Amino acid sequence: MYKLAFIGGSLDSIAGYPHFIASQMDRRFEVVAGAFSTQQETNYKTATQWKVPALYDTWQELVEKEKNNLDAIVILTPTPMHCTIIIELLKNNIPILCEKPLVSSLQEIEAIKKVYDEKKHFLVVTNNYSGYPMVRELQHKIANDELGKILHIRLKMPQESFLRPPKSIKYPQKWRLKDGFIPMISLDLGAHLHHLAYFLLQEEPSKVMATYASFSQYNVIDDVNMMLEYKSGIKGNIWLSKTALGNRNGLHIEVYGSKASALWHQENPEQLEFSYSSGQKTIIDRGSDVEITNNPLYNRMTPGHPAGFIESFANLYNDIANELDNFFNDTKLDSKYVYSFEHAKNGINLLHQASQSNKNKEWTHI
Ligand SMILES: NC(=O)c1ccc[n+]([C@@H]2O[C@H](COP(=O)([O-])OP(=O)(O)OC[C@H]3O[C@@H](n4cnc5c(N)ncnc54)[C@H](O)[C@@H]3O)[C@@H](O)[C@H]2O)c1
Repeated sequence: MYKLAFIGGSLDSIAGYPHFIASQMDRRFEVVAGAFSTQQETNYKTATQWKVPALYDTWQELVEKEKNNLDAIVILTPTPMHCTIIIELLKNNIPILCEKPLVSSLQEIEAIKKVYDEKKHFLVVTNNYSGYPMVRELQHKIANDELGKILHIRLKMPQESFLRPPKSIKYPQKWRLKDGFIPMISLDLGAHLHHLAYFLLQEEPSKVMATYASFSQYNVIDDVNMMLEYKSGIKGNIWLSKTALGNRNGLHIEVYGSKASALWHQENPEQLEFSYSSGQKTIIDRGSDVEITNNPLYNRMTPGHPAGFIESFANLYNDIANELDNFFNDTKLDSKYVYSFEHAKNGINLLHQASQSNKNKEWTHI
C-alpha cells in the first residue's frame, strides 16, 4: 500500500473525508500522516477519528519530518494555498496528488513551471468526475464514433449554495468569497467542466466568449456563462452557478453528435441516455452490454446496487495508484484517466481567457 499524507482535508472540510475514504476503498493507499487543519483541536480530532499515527501542527513540519517516509502527499487546502505547497513539495521531490484546480492564476502556473520537471516529478490533479464509470463509457463511445461527428457539447454545474447553503457544513468559507482575475466560482466549478469537456472530446477550445454575473449577497461572481468554439467545428456551452435554487449539484453533460446525442446527470450517475437519429431512445447502466463499465473495479457490487460519488473518487485513486506503480518502476505514465500539469495549465488558461472575454465583452482566443 502506498503511504499518503494529507495537507488540509480535516473533518470540518468539504473535500477531506471523501478523499480519506476513496483513497482506502481498494486498499491501494493508507493515510499515515497529516497536517489536516490549522485549528489544533480539529487537527487532533481528525487524526484520532481516522487513526492516523503521525500528526503535525504545520504542513512545513510534516514535510520536513516525513519526506522520506511517504510515497505521496495529497493537497486538500483552500485553492489559494495550493501553489506555495506544490512548489515546496516539488523542491523536495515528493509525489503530489492535488485537488482541483491546481492553482488560481496564470502567474501561479508560471511559478510552478520554474520548478516542475515532467521527467522527474509526479504531479496529478484529482479530477474526480471523470472517475464515474458512465462518463468513462461515454468517452469510449465518442472515441468509437458511436455518436457520429460531434456537433456541440453542453455542460452545466448549477448549484444553490450562495442562496441556500448546505446545512452539514459552514458555507461559504471565507476563502471562497474572494475573487481574483479568475473568479472563485470558475476555479471551484469551471475547472471540473474544462476537464470533462476535454476528457470527452480530447480537444481544447480555441475561443471563448464569457459573461459573468453577481446575484447573491456576497459581492463576488456567482454565475458564469461561456460559449466555446473548437478548431474541429464543435461548439460548446458552459454554465456555472452558485445562485440556482433547486440545484444541490446539478452537474449535467449533454453531447450532441450527427448520429446520436448522450445525456448524463451526476445525481443519477449510473445511467447514460442516448437518443438516435432513428428517433429511438436508450438508457444504459452497468447491467447493460457495456464495454468499459463491466470492469470489475466499477462493480464492487453487482448492478442494481447503486454506486456513486465516493466510488467514482476511488476509481480515480486506483488509476493514480497504477500511475504511481509506473512512476516508481520508471515506466512510462500512460493512464487515459489521470491528468497532470499540462491539462491543468490549459484549464487555467481557458478560465483566464474567459475573464478577459467578460472584461472586454468580446470573443477571446485561448
Ligand atoms: N473535487 C471535488 O469535488 C471538490 C469538492 C470540494 C472542494 N474541492 C477542492 O478541495 C480544496 C479544498 O476545498 P474544501 O471545500 O474542502 O475547503 P475547506 O475550506 O472546507 O477545507 C480546507 C481545509 O484545509 C485546512 N487548512 C487550511 N489552511 C491550512 C494549513 N495552513 N495547513 C493545513 N491545513 C489547512 C482547513 O482546516 C480545512 O480542513 C479546494 O482546492 C477545492 O477546490 C474539490
